[in-house]
Amino acid sequence: MAGGEGAASGGGWRQTLVRLMERHRGLIVVLFCLPASFLFDVAFRLRAWVRRELLAAPNKHHQRVAEIQARVLRWNKLPPSERKLMCTDRPNWLSLSTTFFRKDLCHRIPVPLYDILSLNESQMTVKVEPMVSVGQITEFLIPQGYTLAVTLEIADATLGGLAMGVGMTTYSHKVGLYQEAIRAYEVVLGDGSLVRVTRDNEHSDLYHTLPWSHGTLGFLVALELDIVKVKPYVHMKYIPVTGQKKYCDMIRDLSGANDKDKQAADYLEATVYSKEKAVIMVGNFADLPPGQEHKVNHITRWYKPWFYKHTESFLQRGEGDEYIPLREYLLRHNRAIFWVVEAMIPFGNNPLFRFFLGWLLPPKPAFLKFTTTPGVRAMTFTKQVFQDIVLPMNILEKQIDVSEELFDTYPILVYPCRIYDHGEHAGQLRPPRPDQRCPGADWGMFNDLGVYGVPGPVRRKQRYDAVKQMRAMEKFCREVGGYPFLYADIFMDRKEFEQMFDLTAYERVREKYHANGAFPHLYDKVKPEIDVFAVGEEYIDPL
Ligand SMILES: Cc1cc2nc3c(=O)[nH]c(=O)nc-3n(C[C@H](O)[C@H](O)[C@H](O)COP(=O)(O)OP(=O)(O)OC[C@H]3O[C@@H](n4cnc5c(N)ncnc54)[C@H](O)[C@@H]3O)c2cc1C
Ligand SMILES: *[C@@H]1O[C@H](CO)[C@@H](O)[C@H](O)[C@H]1NC(C)=O
Repeated sequence: MAGGEGAASGGGWRQTLVRLMERHRGLIVVLFCLPASFLFDVAFRLRAWVRRELLAAPNKHHQRVAEIQARVLRWNKLPPSERKLMCTDRPNWLSLSTTFFRKDLCHRIPVPLYDILSLNESQMTVKVEPMVSVGQITEFLIPQGYTLAVTLEIADATLGGLAMGVGMTTYSHKVGLYQEAIRAYEVVLGDGSLVRVTRDNEHSDLYHTLPWSHGTLGFLVALELDIVKVKPYVHMKYIPVTGQKKYCDMIRDLSGANDKDKQAADYLEATVYSKEKAVIMVGNFADLPPGQEHKVNHITRWYKPWFYKHTESFLQRGEGDEYIPLREYLLRHNRAIFWVVEAMIPFGNNPLFRFFLGWLLPPKPAFLKFTTTPGVRAMTFTKQVFQDIVLPMNILEKQIDVSEELFDTYPILVYPCRIYDHGEHAGQLRPPRPDQRCPGADWGMFNDLGVYGVPGPVRRKQRYDAVKQMRAMEKFCREVGGYPFLYADIFMDRKEFEQMFDLTAYERVREKYHANGAFPHLYDKVKPEIDVFAVGEEYIDPL
C-alpha cells in the first residue's frame, strides 16, 4: 500500500496522464501507434527482402560461422577481468520475449545468420540458419508441399529462438515440442569450437539441454528440422461444446491422451470462452474437393473477422466446417496476436474498422517493444497477463479453474502436446509422472494453457496484486509438474526455479562445454530485468 500512496502523491500528473491514455487507448493506438508500426514493418520487410533476394548467400554459411568462432576465440584471449559474459547482438526489442535482458552488460557477438541452407526431401529435413523466421520458412516450404512438423502461429518468431526457448503448436499432440522435431543443432561453444549435436551422437547430453537453455550454452549457428508432407488446405471442423468436463474430455479423447494408437487429427486446438463454453477445432490436411469452392475461407485477409471471433461465432451457429489455405491456417492467430490486440484496440474487430484499417494489423511486437517506456513495461505484467504454460492434460479442468480464480480473463487457449520421457535428469523438463502418462507410451499428454489479456479486477478497476497471483500460478505449476514458457515474465526466486526445472544435466553440461564464465546462467538470463516485486507493489492499486 505504501508504494501505491507514494506513487500517487509523487506522480499525480503522471497518473492523470496514464489514466487519460488508458481511457482513449484504442484511439491513440490507431492514430499514432499503428501507422508508425506499419512504416516500421514496411522498412523491416524491405530489409528482410533485401537480405533474402540480394544478400542471401547460403554458400557463405561456413565463412559466417568461422567469423563467429574467431570472435569467440578473441574473447577467450582477453584478460579474465575484461571478459564479460557473452550473448548475441540481436537487439532485445526484436525478440518476442516480454522481458528486456540487459545485453548492454554483455559482450555481444554478431550472429548474422538469416538463410535457408538446404532442403533434403529424402531425409525429410530442412537445414536453416537460426534467424530464419516462421514467415520465411512457411513461404519457402508450403509451395513445395511441406511444412515444419512444429511451427508457431507468429510470423516474426525465429527458428533459432524457438529452438533455444520452446516451441509448441497444434500439431504437437502428434510429435511433441519443437525440440522433438530437431534432427541436429550446430553450436559454437564458449571455447570457440563448433559442434554438431544430435540425439544420439557423442553430444547427446547437449542435445537434451539446448532446448529451454535460452542461449546460455553456446551460439546456435544452424538447425536441421523435421518437415512433414502437407496438402494445400486444412479442412477445419468447429465443434462448440457446453460443459467443462465435456469439452475437456472431448479434447483429451481427440488428442489420443489415453490411447497411444489413436489416429488423431492433424491439428487440434480449443478456445475456451468461459468456464463452461469452448469451441474445439479439428483440422486435417486436405485437397479441395470439387464443388466445395464456396467453403474456402481466406481467414487472414484484412477485412475478415479476427480468428478467435470467427471461432466464437460457432457457439451460436452450431457445428460447422470449412477449408482454409494451409499458410493461412498456420498464421491464423497472427493478425490479432491471439486476442492480445483487443486490449489495445477495443473496436478493432468492428467490420468498418477492419475494412478500412484492418490491413494495419497486427502492431509489430518489435515496434511495441522498441517504443516501450518503463511505465509501459510495468504495465505488461501488472495490468495484463501474458503466459503460456505447459501443464498435464489430465487436470485440464483444474487448470481452467485456477486460471479463472487468479486472472479471471477469457478466452483461454488450449492445445495438446506430448511430453516425452527422455530419462531421469536428461534435460530441463522432468519425465511425465505416472498418472500423467498415456498407457504403454513413453510420453504423457500435456497442453499449452495460453492466458493473454487484462485480468478481471483490472478491468473492473479493483485492486490487483499481479505478483501475488503470478506466484500462485507458478506454485500450482510446481505442484503439478508444469512449466511456464520462459519468454514471459517469471516471478520465482532461484530456488523455486530449480524446483520447477531440473537443472542437473544443465549444470553438468555447462561445466563440460565451457559455458560457465562464458554465458549467463539460465535463471539470470530469463528473470525479468526489473525488480518485479517493487514495481508490482507500486501498481497494485487501480488507477
Ligand atoms: C502472445 C504470445 C503467444 C505465444 N504463444 C506461443 C505458442 O503458442 N507456442 C509457442 O511455441 N510459442 C509461443 N510464444 C512465444 C515464442 O515461443 C517465443 O517468443 C519464441 O522463443 C520465439 O521468439 P523469438 O524468435 O523472438 O526468440 P528470442 O526471444 O529472440 O530467442 C529466444 C531465446 O533464445 C536465445 N537465442 C536466440 N537465437 C540464438 C542463437 N542463435 N544462439 C543462441 N541463443 C539464441 C535468445 O537469447 C533467447 O533467450 C508466444 C508469444 C507471445 C508474445
Ligand atoms: C539428404 O541426406 C542424405 C542422407 O544423409 C544424403 O545422402 C543426401 O545426399 C542428402 N541430399 C541432399 C539433397 O542434400
